[in-house]
Order: sequence, then structure tokens, then C-alpha cells
Amino acid sequence: MTNGCTLQMALLLWLPIAALSTNYNLLQFQQKRGNANCSELLRELEGAPEHCMESRMDFKVPEKIKQPQQIKKVEAVVVIHEMLLQIFDIFEENFSSTGWNETTVAKLRMQLHFQMDRLEEALMEIIKEGNFTPGNLTLMQLRSYYYRMRQYLRDKMYSRCAWTVVHVELLRNFSFLQRYTVFLQN
Ligand SMILES: *[C@@H]1O[C@H](CO)[C@@H](O)[C@H](O)[C@H]1NC(C)=O
Ligand SMILES: *[C@@H]1O[C@H](CO)[C@@H](O)[C@H](O)[C@H]1NC(C)=O
Ligand SMILES: *[C@@H]1O[C@H](CO)[C@@H](O)[C@H](O)[C@H]1NC(C)=O
Ligand SMILES: *[C@@H]1O[C@H](CO)[C@@H](O)[C@H](O)[C@H]1NC(C)=O
Ligand SMILES: *[C@@H]1O[C@H](CO)[C@@H](O)[C@H](O)[C@H]1NC(C)=O
Repeated sequence: MTNGCTLQMALLLWLPIAALSTNYNLLQFQQKRGNANCSELLRELEGAPEHCMESRMDFKVPEKIKQPQQIKKVEAVVVIHEMLLQIFDIFEENFSSTGWNETTVAKLRMQLHFQMDRLEEALMEIIKEGNFTPGNLTLMQLRSYYYRMRQYLRDKMYSRCAWTVVHVELLRNFSFLQRYTVFLQN
């Protein structure tokens, strides 16, 4: 029991210090690798023929996301998390018309989940540090952007072409997210 107590004391002394420093470099590394994984999985899901791009949509990217130089480190964590969450939700929609491999989609969802977990851990620490100032305007716009994407799928009855359009948009989102991870630098 004494040993247990000592260990507990050591942990108590240690934890606040550990909790005070979010390891952004590690987070950045994990997110970069994870985004690359997601892009690869997304590419495995085949799109429909080119002519589908005629029904291309402007989902109206939030202005603030368009100009990432304005984004702070903490905000980047929140934005990346929100994007991954929204993309995760899109893959809960009916994609049976696409003929996509269910295993690949499941893997993609697992990967997204894993990345979200890492970001949530970081968020918990950020909140403990008292550094959390949510720019909820950006979040609302971001949610609307993905809402329009889901609405578009719904309006088009989850057709293969509609999914192709969304697929292309999401693939581009990941190359965008990849550049975004720069803001996670310590
Ligand atoms: C990326 O995928 C590989 C193989 O599926 C896996 O071993 C690795 O942990 C993944 N990386 C991240 C950051 O999730
Ligand atoms: C999914 O969409 C297809 C048509 O693309 C439809 O036949 C099927 O019933 C839908 N499934 C669900 C669960 O809504
Ligand atoms: C789906 O992909 C997995 C590998 O990720 C593969 O083993 C499986 O055969 C594929 N299923 C179909 C129906 O193509
Ligand atoms: C977030 O939204 C609430 C109400 O919806 C508002 O009162 C608050 O000022 C907003 N915060 C920021 C940082 O925009
Ligand atoms: C999604 O991808 C498009 C196309 O590259 C890009 O313009 C947009 O900024 C991305 N959306 C978000 C929310 O990052």
C-alpha cells in the first residue's frame, strides 16, 4: 500500500506539469499521418465517370477557412476536429448507390475516429490551460457548409453522381486539412 501511495503522490506531482503542455508537435505528426491515411482510403473509393462533375456544386466554404493565415493554434484544433466529425457524419449517409467497399468505408470511419480522439485529448488540455476561446462563428459556418453537402446528397436521392461530387470535395478537403496541420506547430 505504501508503494501505491508513493506512486500516487508521484503522479499527482507530475500530472499538472504534463497537463500544462499540449504536445502540438506530436499532435501535428499524428494528424498528418492520419490525413494521409484518410486520403488514401478515400482514393480507394472509386468515383463515377467524369460527366458527373457537370452537376458540381458550390458548397460555399466559410470565408475564414479560406484564409487560414488568420487561424490560431487552438482554433486549428477545433476546426480540424469539426471537419473530421462532419466528414465522419457524411459517411453515415446512404452510399449504397456507389458500390463502395464497406470495409474501406469502415476503415475510413475508424481512422477519422482515431484522429478525433487525439484532438479531443488535446482539447481537454487546452480547456484545462484556460486557453479555450471558441470562435463559434467559424464553427457555425463550417457546419452549414457540411450541412449543404448532406442536403445536396439528400436532394439527389444519394445518387452515384451526387456522391462523386461530394467525394471530390472531400478529397480536396483532406489536402486542405493537410496544409492546415501547419498551425498545430508548437
Ligand atoms: C495509418 O494507417 C496505418 C496502416 O493502416 C496504421 O498502422 C497507422 O497507425 C495509421 N496512422 C495513423 C496516424 O492513424
Ligand atoms: C439507400 O439508397 C438506395 C438507393 O440509392 C435505396 O434503394 C435504399 O433503400 C436506401 N437505403 C436506406 C437504408 O435508406
Ligand atoms: C474490400 O476491401 C478489402 C480490403 O480493404 C478486401 O479484402 C475485400 O475483398 C473488398 N471487398 C470487395 C467486395 O471488393
Ligand atoms: C458564441 O455564440 C454566442 C451566442 O450564440 C455568443 O453570445 C458569443 O458571443 C459567441 N462567441 C464568440 C466567440 O463568437
Ligand atoms: C474543401 O475542399 C475545397 C476544395 O479544395 C476547399 O476549397 C475547401 O476549403 C474545403 N473545405 C473546407 C471546409 O476546408
